[in-house]
Amino acid sequence: MEYKNPEVKKAAQQLEAKFEKLEDKRAILRAPELGALYERIKTLPAGKARAEFGKEVNALKAELESLVRKTVTSSLSPVTSIDVTAPFDINVKLEHRPKLMTADNGSQHPLMTELENIIDIFARMGFAAVESRELDDDYHMFGSLNFPKDHPARDEYDTFVTDEGLIAPAHTSIMQNRVFKDMKIPIRAVIPGRVFRNEDLDARHEHTFYQLEGVYVDEGINAGHLVATIKTWLSSYYEKDIEIKIQPFYFPFTEPSFEFAASCIFCEGKGCSICSQTGWIELGGCGMIHPNVLREGGIDPNKYTGFAWGFGIDRLVMLKYNIEDVRHFHSGNLKFLRQFS
Ligand code: DAH
Repeated sequence: MEYKNPEVKKAAQQLEAKFEKLEDKRAILRAPELGALYERIKTLPAGKARAEFGKEVNALKAELESLVRKTVTSSLSPVTSIDVTAPFDINVKLEHRPKLMTADNGSQHPLMTELENIIDIFARMGFAAVESRELDDDYHMFGSLNFPKDHPARDEYDTFVTDEGLIAPAHTSIMQNRVFKDMKIPIRAVIPGRVFRNEDLDARHEHTFYQLEGVYVDEGINAGHLVATIKTWLSSYYEKDIEIKIQPFYFPFTEPSFEFAASCIFCEGKGCSICSQTGWIELGGCGMIHPNVLREGGIDPNKYTGFAWGFGIDRLVMLKYNIEDVRHFHSGNLKFLRQFS
């Protein structure tokens, strides 16, 4: 910029020369030459000349500020967001990063493929799918499901709790109350979700696994509908005629409560090593929804009844593909995963 006033013009030249040499460019704004110009303004008699001079000094300062801004921002490396899930430090140069497989070598996890398949079958049977959640509160985990405070039945669902008292859900039944409040009768919903348990790990037990919850509420629903629904769905999933057996059990949220077992898909009920020669494989829990649970969900139990069930998806998929150890699913073992890609 051209300055008319010779004093300002001279200072501008000096400051520009100085600026080139400075390591910390911001120091130019504290340069004595600039300070002296401001001091000079005060000594001038008030009037047009003083105003003109002041204007030029301000323009010079603005010019220097803009120079500083340009160099300071361009010398900083652009801020990239940190991907906390990246398996390496993204600030490391490309050639020093671990060699990764390209994304097109990947494939969907078998549990997700099967889950989609299961939900498709239920969709054809008129069930909507509602996703569960991975953090919840005491009310949805226990209170809304008719577990009295301090009742020993809570021990069956020992899981992880945050300092604030939030719970990593031990079952997908946490969603029942929400579904009852949100959906209109007739209610038909399946609820897939990841659940967490304090388990001793072995070939059949993982601390983290998937469940599928199902609920059906309408007028005149009985346990016959429950058995027929599970039988129809399982026969469709395993692509063969499956028999269902229910036997009495206890859950606080159903009355009556049952465990359900399917005729062994390997020996078709004759008895083999997979079903321990019994001909049956236990799959999950079910029952008629307890009146207290319906009432808590805003449904009149004198008018409506319903059934519910819950089972582990991992177990179902293990049976379908004769997988011997549940821990393969979360192992990240490529040899295991490639069999499904
Ligand atoms: N939530 C139970 C569990 O994880 C399974 C279950 C049993 C779900 C009976 C239900 C049911 O909806 O009616 O052990």
